[in-house]
Amino acid sequence: MLTVRKLRMDDLDQPLGVEAVPRFSWAAESDRRNVRQKAYRLQIAKDRDFSDLLFDSGRVESDESAYVQADCGKTEPCTWYFVRVRVDDGTETSPWSGAASFLTGMTAGWKAGFITAEGDGDGFNSHGTYLRRSWQVKKPVRSAVVCATALGIYHLRLNGQEVGDREKMLPGWTSYRDHLCYQTWDVTDLVRPGENVLGAHVGAGWFKGMMCFVHERCIYGNRTALLAQLTLRYTDGSEETVCTDGEWWGCASPVTFSEIYDGERVDARLDQPGWDMPGLAMVRGEPETVGSTEKYRQPETLLSREQKEKDRAAAQAWQPEDTLWRPVKPVDFPLHVLEAQPGCRPMVHEEIPVKEVLTTPKGETVLDFGQNLTGYVRFRVKGKRGELAHLRCFETLDAEGNAYFDNLRGVLAEIRYICGGDGEQVWDEQFSFQGFRYALVAAWPGPVRPEDFTACAVYSDMPETGAFACSHPLLNRLQHNIGWSLRGNFLDIPTDCPQRDERMGWTGDAQIFCGTAAFLRGCKPFFTKWLRDIAVDQTREGGIPHMVPDIFRYRESSDWLVSQGTHSAAGWGDVAVILPWTLYRVYGDRSILEKQFESMKRWIDFMRGHAEDFLWSFRLQFGDWVALDAEEGSYFGATPLELTNTAYFAYVTELFTKACRVLNRLDLAEEYGALRKGIADKFRRMFLDESGVMKVQTQTAHILGLVFRLIPPEGIPGTVEGLCRLLEKENGHLVTGFMGTPAFCFALSENGRTREAYDLLLQEDFPSWLYQVKKGATTIWEHWDGLKPDGTMWSPDMNSFNHYAYGAVGEWMYRVAAGIGSDEDRPGYHRIRFAPQTDHRLSWVEARLETEYGSVASCWERKGNDVCLSVEVPVNCDAEILLEEGAKAAESDLLFASGPDGRLRASAGSGTWKVQYHLYRERGTAE
Ligand code: BGC
Repeated sequence: MLTVRKLRMDDLDQPLGVEAVPRFSWAAESDRRNVRQKAYRLQIAKDRDFSDLLFDSGRVESDESAYVQADCGKTEPCTWYFVRVRVDDGTETSPWSGAASFLTGMTAGWKAGFITAEGDGDGFNSHGTYLRRSWQVKKPVRSAVVCATALGIYHLRLNGQEVGDREKMLPGWTSYRDHLCYQTWDVTDLVRPGENVLGAHVGAGWFKGMMCFVHERCIYGNRTALLAQLTLRYTDGSEETVCTDGEWWGCASPVTFSEIYDGERVDARLDQPGWDMPGLAMVRGEPETVGSTEKYRQPETLLSREQKEKDRAAAQAWQPEDTLWRPVKPVDFPLHVLEAQPGCRPMVHEEIPVKEVLTTPKGETVLDFGQNLTGYVRFRVKGKRGELAHLRCFETLDAEGNAYFDNLRGVLAEIRYICGGDGEQVWDEQFSFQGFRYALVAAWPGPVRPEDFTACAVYSDMPETGAFACSHPLLNRLQHNIGWSLRGNFLDIPTDCPQRDERMGWTGDAQIFCGTAAFLRGCKPFFTKWLRDIAVDQTREGGIPHMVPDIFRYRESSDWLVSQGTHSAAGWGDVAVILPWTLYRVYGDRSILEKQFESMKRWIDFMRGHAEDFLWSFRLQFGDWVALDAEEGSYFGATPLELTNTAYFAYVTELFTKACRVLNRLDLAEEYGALRKGIADKFRRMFLDESGVMKVQTQTAHILGLVFRLIPPEGIPGTVEGLCRLLEKENGHLVTGFMGTPAFCFALSENGRTREAYDLLLQEDFPSWLYQVKKGATTIWEHWDGLKPDGTMWSPDMNSFNHYAYGAVGEWMYRVAAGIGSDEDRPGYHRIRFAPQTDHRLSWVEARLETEYGSVASCWERKGNDVCLSVEVPVNCDAEILLEEGAKAAESDLLFASGPDGRLRASAGSGTWKVQYHLYRERGTAE
């Protein structure tokens, strides 16, 4: 039987707040093999029963089933629409799918304006404010939808209830002045007859709290503000809106300080129970007379470090004069930069109990949650009014087993809570997050009971799409750690780390990891949103900031690193091309290339403009960052910058040329194809010997030459030999950094050295992936020697235990060990390339990937030299199955024949297929 299992819209099950009709993707299932869609029929309706149809495609003869457009005309703002689809394969027609739905957002413009409850003197403070407005509901309500955002972080409340699910840190972090996301919720169930109150709790967040290792405050403005518009529709057909306007009241909340790095200070004695409920008798103060409308004002640039530290301390010590309610003030902020958030809102996910309460040798009480994560500790406390509960979050214990804060680089990462009453109180962090596994209980009223604490993991809501398991427990643990480093660093933007005074959108880290991320989670909306910021933050000349959102667009800095350059480094800026291309390859949505095309082109043109005879450079370059072949104490690896720059320049120009072809820009494809050739020739002249073999004696030089296809065929064997020699020289260990590491295993397995790739992956002593695992890591470390074999640590200046970059090896495990690959000509896994490469040290590997078309899976078992492989191809897809080198005598329902390289291959349609084969190794091994 043919059925439609899931129907999705713009990569989501249920988009909330779309501004245009989404594109539709569906996955069909059948118990028959070789099923392809011949036609579909899609309907969009205003009601769940599909009696009020807005659109009916009729039968459309097409095999398209991903990102299908439906021209249904204009939609109403703040309205639900329902969608269903049925398909046929020429033999059978499926029943209608279940109804999926989407909610439109502000498609008709805003009536609301930004308002603030902060005063003129609040510029450098980071306290919370409450805002509220009440109104009367006099008629029966049919629907109520609210759209909102903030300059800062906000939590919306309606009649005392939290609006939304488990969202945190909204509206997230974008280049606010050019791009600010708003969120949409259906709040019909929260509205009641009579008096209603819409309220918000607003804090500083990324908008005006201290950010980056340069400790700048008020980067985007100096007052927090709220924007909200509630659309009420009554059963009699009339409509009303409740907007942020002069009718609102605001006051100081009990959060006296809250920032991303230093954490939160709460004085619960200042709280006003029922502040967000009807019937509150507001105690009102005199309205502030100054500053009715305020444009964001820039503080002095280049403040001294001392001044910054003073400002930071003053913000922490801030106390309100009173908590009286005053009329809010309007804030001038452009509304045209607003965009509906494309899904993936940051939310609370796992809630992890205390694993153990430790007493350290120093006598500290420490909560161990057993997992390094990003989020906060929710707690229950029973103290007397005025008593302090104080927790400090941190990642690791030191060699003696005491709490270790040094690698936080002075970040307080704490919560200080002053009890408001004598009863039991619960605190749930409002505007901050920390990267931690442990929490030091610095002060606590009464006994420390593990059941009173919960670590809440906060990250962008992205469905888990990948699953990998194998017979090797340490590799499974490695995948677990990669998955947790993704969770820990995908909090609205892709960050480098979640614990120290960084947590920035470092472009290089995301570039390296995006291929792995796209196996683990449905991260397209997440990255699409960030790509928009890459484009808006791009310099006039086309340069790409090292960090996006780019705070240095607004600030100069005397910091040793960023004063050398704030944008355009090879491997970092290249995210502008590599990320859209990766998303296109994995999800098959060409609109991402269309959207980013100008940005991609401008980045390549930037490099071209700064190149002389194809060699380009620009101010600060990171090269093979934090490689172990760096000079003692340096972050910069040994591979020359000319080589890393040229290799990446050639690679992204090649990807851009492909993008030009996809978009049918053939003139440009030719122009950039020629550019790529020029760069590749230059690379050969500079770094290869006359027989085409890599001359530069670093692992990374060899790896980049091979994986970026810069070594001519005649030079490949020598270069591969060279790489293996360099590996042997290190006794089988890598000494690579950000550039070499992600591609190391690929460089080997793509060149007949799969066994060596496995050797590297399975290496257990320092430095290696499994070394970390054996050291008890629960996430991926920034440095191979974050924790050295002798128990000492890398310099606290820069030693994160939650950095996903080296987790990029995860992609190799899916693509090569499990063998799930995509085909660029039919992207999105419309055509799948299964090419698993087994190893005698693993007896089985199993991986699964949810794609737009359905579930793709590959699973093999190996006994001696006998392999049994099983693959799953979704309906409407087909596959090529390529057996590994040395595989002979395939037994299968499929027809295997040997290809030009001598390897056995077969084509398959949808369904589950099995093949058994025997391995005769060529390279004289006794497996
Ligand atoms: C970050 C990185 C980043 C690097 C570049 C570090 O501080 O944590 O991961 O890419 O700086 O310089």
